[in-house]
Amino acid sequence: MKLYDVYPLFDVNIVKGDGCRVWDDKGTEYLDLYGGHAVISIGHAHPKYVDYISRQVGTLGFYSNSVINTLQSKVAETLGKISGYEDYNLFFINSGAEANENALKLSSFKNGHTRVIAFNKAFHGRTSLAVEITDNPKIIAPINNNGHTTYLPLNDIEAVRAELAKGDVTAVIIEGIQGVGGIRIPDAEFLQELQKECNATGTTLILDEIQSGCGRSGKFFAHQWAGIRPDIITQAKGIGNGFPIGCVLISPKFQAVYGELGTTFGGNHLACAAAQAVLEVMEEEHLLDNVNKVGDYLMEELKKIPQIKEVRGKGLMIGMEFEEPIKEIRRRLLFEEHVFTGVSGTNVIRLLPPLTLTMEQAEEFIARFKRVLQ
Ligand SMILES: Cc1ncc(COP(=O)(O)O)c(C=O)c1O
Repeated sequence: MKLYDVYPLFDVNIVKGDGCRVWDDKGTEYLDLYGGHAVISIGHAHPKYVDYISRQVGTLGFYSNSVINTLQSKVAETLGKISGYEDYNLFFINSGAEANENALKLSSFKNGHTRVIAFNKAFHGRTSLAVEITDNPKIIAPINNNGHTTYLPLNDIEAVRAELAKGDVTAVIIEGIQGVGGIRIPDAEFLQELQKECNATGTTLILDEIQSGCGRSGKFFAHQWAGIRPDIITQAKGIGNGFPIGCVLISPKFQAVYGELGTTFGGNHLACAAAQAVLEVMEEEHLLDNVNKVGDYLMEELKKIPQIKEVRGKGLMIGMEFEEPIKEIRRRLLFEEHVFTGVSGTNVIRLLPPLTLTMEQAEEFIARFKRVLQ
């Protein structure tokens, strides 16, 4: 059997990782400014992460959501404290798309509506509802094209007001920082007004923090820069540091009903061990401080580079837009300078390194990047 060929691959076989570095099967070392697509938060093979997961798999790898799992409550407690959402409730699932699916289901169960407001260039995942609220017709199959979504321009509060006034919108969903859309940050005032409008109309405000959450922006969630408290927050990627975990943080406005949501694997023992390690390491190693320090340095240095048209971002979620396609720059970064980076569209390079990136590694990246641009 061969693999279903849906991924255009770089010809590199990564077999080992340590902190912010990875190695291929030939022993070549790479600096990781991509974090396996914003997934690696506390660094590759962090000793605490390895320890927690290995000990858990040697004790109990899995049981089921029909019995008590105190590891889940421990993660919920730790996540509540570290994120400032102690009064919210937590539902575990396995991926980002599923977290958004469940957020939308909760919203629709609550207010009975079916229309969703999403924003231009939004990416919310590839399962049926999640893809339907994603602004990319190429990945929406006919079976998923059910007319639930209205896309509006980011930061246009009047357009949102006009749609909410029609009285049939279940939820507004917005990324804390748009990732796939090219690192675009919603204005703080826009988010504040959005929250007010949603509250006034009984519409659920869902913050998709799947890429921008878990400390990546320099606050635990990117929307916290705007001082808002959404009704539902979705999280995945960084919270598992590579272990597949999705989370839905649900405001106390929602009343849980037995059987309304469910999952076989969500919140399993290994997933909880992984998330617990991530959250503890974030606190113990003061990763939010590191993200702000190293992120500010990178932004400052990148803004001095004349070839870059625009630098956008917060913390360690940075986009560099060029006038021309960046495919060749990325290829040379990888194969000549041995640096992994991400991409958005054709002209934006995305930096999503582990949150443990040191100042020395950031300086090393800038030096290698400048060599490629020369
Ligand atoms: C903002 C956002 N939402 C949702 C998703 C989907 O997450 P997953 O691939 O875990 O389903 C992603 C993945 O890139 C994302 O960036």
